[in-house]
Amino acid sequence: MKRIIAFAAALWLVAAAHAAGKRIIEITTDDVSWIMMVNERDELTVLHFGGRIADPEPLLAWRSYRHADYGTDRMACPTAGGRNFRQPALRMTHADGDMNTELAYRSHAVERMADGVTRTSVELVDRKDAVTVTMVYTAYERENVITAHCEIFNGGRKPLRLHDFYSATLPVKASKYLLTHFYGSWAREMQVDRTLLTHGMKSIETRKGVRTTHTENPSFMLSLDTETFDENCGEVIAGALAWTGNFRINFEVDEFDLLSITGGINPYASEYELAGGERFVTPDMILTYSAEGAGGASRNLHDWARSHGVWNPSQVRPTLLNSWEGAYFDFTTETLLRMVDDAADMGLEMFVLDDGWFGREFPRNDSRAGLGDWCVNVAKLPEGIDSVARYAHGKGLKFGIWIEPEMINEKSELYRKHPDWVVQAPGREKTKIRNQWLLDLSNPAVQDFVFGVFDSTMQLSPHIDYVKWDANRHVESAGSEWLPDGRQSHFWIDYVRGFYAVLERIRAKYPDVVVQSCASGGGRVDYGALKYFDEVWTSDNTEALSRVFIQYGTNMIYPALVTGAHVSAVPNHQTGNSTPLKFRFDVASSGRLGMELQPQNMTGRERDFARRAVESYSMYRDLIASGDLYRIASPYDPDGLCALMYVSKDKSRAVVFAYCLKYRSRTLKTQLRLHGLARDRKYAVRELNVDKSRYWGDGRVLGGDLLVEKGFNPDLYKIYDSGVYYLEAQ
Ligand code: DGJ
Repeated sequence: MKRIIAFAAALWLVAAAHAAGKRIIEITTDDVSWIMMVNERDELTVLHFGGRIADPEPLLAWRSYRHADYGTDRMACPTAGGRNFRQPALRMTHADGDMNTELAYRSHAVERMADGVTRTSVELVDRKDAVTVTMVYTAYERENVITAHCEIFNGGRKPLRLHDFYSATLPVKASKYLLTHFYGSWAREMQVDRTLLTHGMKSIETRKGVRTTHTENPSFMLSLDTETFDENCGEVIAGALAWTGNFRINFEVDEFDLLSITGGINPYASEYELAGGERFVTPDMILTYSAEGAGGASRNLHDWARSHGVWNPSQVRPTLLNSWEGAYFDFTTETLLRMVDDAADMGLEMFVLDDGWFGREFPRNDSRAGLGDWCVNVAKLPEGIDSVARYAHGKGLKFGIWIEPEMINEKSELYRKHPDWVVQAPGREKTKIRNQWLLDLSNPAVQDFVFGVFDSTMQLSPHIDYVKWDANRHVESAGSEWLPDGRQSHFWIDYVRGFYAVLERIRAKYPDVVVQSCASGGGRVDYGALKYFDEVWTSDNTEALSRVFIQYGTNMIYPALVTGAHVSAVPNHQTGNSTPLKFRFDVASSGRLGMELQPQNMTGRERDFARRAVESYSMYRDLIASGDLYRIASPYDPDGLCALMYVSKDKSRAVVFAYCLKYRSRTLKTQLRLHGLARDRKYAVRELNVDKSRYWGDGRVLGGDLLVEKGFNPDLYKIYDSGVYYLEAQ
């Protein structure tokens, strides 16, 4: 009997192979190939992700020669059931209770989306039920980035239940896998963690919702065939998930030493019912590969972000003075007008009014009241917002304002009207964080309200150019009064979809307003949010020493164009540490420069220095916004020096930043080799923000080859010594 079944199965396989036929599906960019094969069983398998292969057709004859892998180790969409025993990308219970899904290739199509952008959609169907899974790969040729997501369609009449619904699976084979990932919490975002993967599963994830990146950021770098992280050499795969909610990225090294990376929405407590005729679209997993080390992978991601990944990439992000650390909740119109004057005096381009301007019956004079009541607190600002905004414009400055529209205080008129809008599990305690609750964005009425907050805030003045969108708590005791009982587990996903639906409406109406994503600092730094936001507030920790580490980690994945970096007062309000003003400026100037302090407390000399540093920033800000980043020395290296540089695409200009993070002794001198310069060109070197340079090459014209080979040795050795050097080809 067994023999007959085996024979019948073999016949079926042959028939299937005959029906579809083995074929190669090739997704390519200028330097990267993602090569898949439809095998003899009609399964979509991944044969290669890495450097470009011009002719992959011979791979049709590919054999793994392994006898124990059941042929399932390279599935492009491994499912639960059938013969797969690895982490499934897709796990569902079908309408009839069947827990198996086995996908077979049906067809694929290639579309040209835009110049240099190609989309390949591969349709897979379950062998038994009416379920279609479309794998969508978008190749960005010039940026060497390929994004991947999938669309799950229930073609049956009855609902099915989705358990796992990852966006993409990438099988990789190397002798060693060195994973770099980014953990962190409030005021300590994007800290670099590194581990050599061993057999078994390593996952990075968040289950917090809203402040999604205050645990782990949904991104990683993977150095192949090495135990050491290298900026300039070796093969690196980097990835990031475009999702502003719970995520999970798994790295599973199996018994054959093959690594499978599976990334997507976190399945945690998120079973999703898919009705007949309904489609579930997963977020994009953004992937790149570089043979030029981690630096090459970062540059690819930055290039992609600046052409496709962030809102309005070509818009100049204004330098600014933000009122928060300078005034907190304690201000009058007069305070704000003086800040505008001071910002203008120091050459900044915008004034941003942070928290504390709203509330009627429950005025927002501290964090305990007012969230939800988005009308001007006339006791505090009797002339309204427009008078400040108009004043700023009159001084040649732009004007920005803070909102936190997803949140509600118990002490608010909104709570009195809509207690049912709060995220809550009926019958359980509604826990507060920072005295506030979260509004349930899975509810369309709440979505309308949140859109209305943005819209009505914009009506407060025709002079609002910038909105800082904050979110100061995460989800606890998840639950929704809106979602039906059987669909409570949809909450985590529907919240994010509701958030995006609101942002879609906002961007349709306000395409040019600069909007910052802030969530207690860098709690919402991801490419899902950046599709709608111009920039992020990188961290509430504005202390320059901590910022060197935070910005170093953040800019591994996200470009400096989007990373807000502010000079604040000393001692620093978060860490208590005092660093020199020059160090603070030199660190903040490697991102989107701003200030966040009370300028009235600065001395005349400090203001002069600020004016000078802001002015010099204008010489190279375009390099920060669109240049190539080269990390020269890591702040994590034990010798206590951090250095990085930005080089223009045509290599005609560069800016170098160097920071001493500890006393390095007079005998251990700085020696840095520059990168990215044209070896055959000569560069005039000029140190900025100093009267007397501590670099012998200042004011000289030096060869690109000399700077690359012999290097660059400014006399920096004391803690908080720093330098900014501007290079211009002659
Ligand atoms: C947290 C943000 O990260 C700060 O910059 C500031 O806007 C406060 N919230 C205001 O409440």
